[in-house]
Amino acid sequence: MTDLYAVFGNPIAHSKSPAIHAAFARATGQDLRYEARLAALDGFAAAVAEFIGEGGRGANVTVPFKEEAFRLCSRLSERAARAGAVNTLICCDGVIAGDNTDGAGLVRDITHNLGYVLAGKRILLLGAGGAARGVIAPLLAGEPAALTIANRSADKAEVLAAAFADLGQVEGGGLGNLAGRSFDLVINATSASLSGARLDLPDGLFAPASLAYDMMYGKGETPFLAQAREQGAARRADGLGMLVEQAAEAFCLWRNCRPDTAGVLAELRAGLAG
Ligand code: ATR
Repeated sequence: MTDLYAVFGNPIAHSKSPAIHAAFARATGQDLRYEARLAALDGFAAAVAEFIGEGGRGANVTVPFKEEAFRLCSRLSERAARAGAVNTLICCDGVIAGDNTDGAGLVRDITHNLGYVLAGKRILLLGAGGAARGVIAPLLAGEPAALTIANRSADKAEVLAAAFADLGQVEGGGLGNLAGRSFDLVINATSASLSGARLDLPDGLFAPASLAYDMMYGKGETPFLAQAREQGAARRADGLGMLVEQAAEAFCLWRNCRPDTAGVLAELRAGLAG
């Protein structure tokens, strides 16, 4: 019987995950079906239960259910526990195990696809919501010189930094504290682009040869990457690669085989350009 997988979200109609996983399955010769499933805002747990009743083997979880998925799981990976959020469910023998592949996906895109070395770098992470929280531990595992978390509301960044202080050199504060400082890698994990808002970033923030990375993606240049270009960031990348790499990591957990991501990423990129 063909194994069943899904992605849960609300909204979900425009999710690229079904196409990504179908491509992975074709490329690796795996027999599986992967569907997009809309869960009601108050119906995530019920939707997952129904899915498992149908024989569902695993699922991805996207906005706005990642924190609820974290609470639903009876087992958590170390990185999911740290993130406080789950984007991957592994359903086996009545047990729902939760993992979080977002941070690993980001780091693999940066290090493998973009060829950027994290070790020794000064990293700035903008934002202190769920998206930021999920990537802190994997970034620190890359042994940067330091990780600075800066947020519009400084207190949230300070709390986050304290929560990860045992894993490396990490500090948190407000966007206003960035004046006069510069960074090698600046990652946007805020949702400011969604409203088209511009971040209040001081000149000189992007060091020579720096990389600006936006966890968001879309048709054309994202607002953050446009700002980074204007402010002198040498290299710029959006989050399409992270999307594909977090999917590959989930696929690997479910099927115990790692798909090649380059072809899928190129296809999605062409789709966005067309
Ligand atoms: P997500 O799960 O995508 O991280 P979230 O938890 O709502 O979503 O967090 C959104 C993040 O984007 C927060 O860090 C938020 O800053 P505040 O904590 O100060 O609200 C940040 N953000 C959203 N809009 C912003 C804007 N216009 N300028 C700066 N930061 C913004």
